[in-house]
Amino acid sequence: MPEPHATLPVADLPPGTVQRVMLNDEPVAVCNVDGRFYAIHDRCTHADAPLSPGGLEGCHLVCTWHGATFDVRTGQPTSPPASEPCRRYTVERQGDTLIVIDRVPND
Ligand code: FES
Repeated sequence: MPEPHATLPVADLPPGTVQRVMLNDEPVAVCNVDGRFYAIHDRCTHADAPLSPGGLEGCHLVCTWHGATFDVRTGQPTSPPASEPCRRYTVERQGDTLIVIDRVPND
């Protein structure tokens, strides 16, 4: 059985941008950092705010509620008040499509 996944067109995610997709009824923020793709849970670990509206600053997503930032490459918080990491997801590219898989990347 295939793993749960979501898809979006590569064209919808230029470098420096983030898009929200739904995967298993959970929001996932898919990010393009200089042509590399990353995905983390689209919920701030401080108080559950969506992270995607804050946009990317380099490799960091910025929470608009209280200013926490997360490194989308690792899911780790990089400024307070958040202290817990966001869950990561695997992103694979197949042609013009990005596939976001409900699997923690093994890197
Ligand atoms: S909810 Fe994100 S910093 Fe508070």
